[in-house]
Amino acid sequence: MEFISNSPRETFDWARSLAAGAKAGDILCLTGDLGCGKTAFAKGFGAGLGVSAEITSPTFTILNIYDSPNQSLPLYHFDVYRISDPTEMEDTGYEDFFYGNGVCLIEWAEIIKNMIPETAGWVTIEKDLRESGDYRKIIYNGGRM
Ligand SMILES: Nc1ncnc2c1ncn2[C@@H]1O[C@H](COP(=O)(O)OP(=O)(O)OP(=O)(O)O)[C@@H](O)[C@H]1O
Ligand SMILES: [Mg+2]
Repeated sequence: MEFISNSPRETFDWARSLAAGAKAGDILCLTGDLGCGKTAFAKGFGAGLGVSAEITSPTFTILNIYDSPNQSLPLYHFDVYRISDPTEMEDTGYEDFFYGNGVCLIEWAEIIKNMIPETAGWVTIEKDLRESGDYRKIIYNGGRM
């Protein structure tokens, strides 16, 4: 599935509606260049899960955990950009989250590709220099989501 976004708001809204189909244990990998909009996508996705806290980039913490209200799904938001050794990933206890009761979003997931289950979905965000600066092509490959 492909979506053309022309603003951060459109990316937010599209991600928010995608989250409506999320189930416990889903993993969605976010890939694309620096500043392409992975965190912008995560903000919308989290809103769709009912997270009311502000979602910020976990670049320095690797993982941010957001509990959702009532019966809805918690969000486990990873950014593995700074991971240089698998033990750093193990230190986060990632398997508890990958195989847990919430939904994982993983920015820069290609860096830890060998840890990502085959059932994971992938979102690739691309800019196009021929288009406006706010143009993004968002390619969604659903996995089992
Ligand atoms: N259509 C769009 N969708 C998403 N973001 C957009 C769009 N157009 C412009 N932007 C801007 O692009 C930037 C995306 O930043 P964001 O932090 O989400 O990227 P990122 O992929 O998470 O970067 P990083 O690799 O550093 O984690 C924001 O400044 C946002 O306002
Ligand atoms: Mg980011």
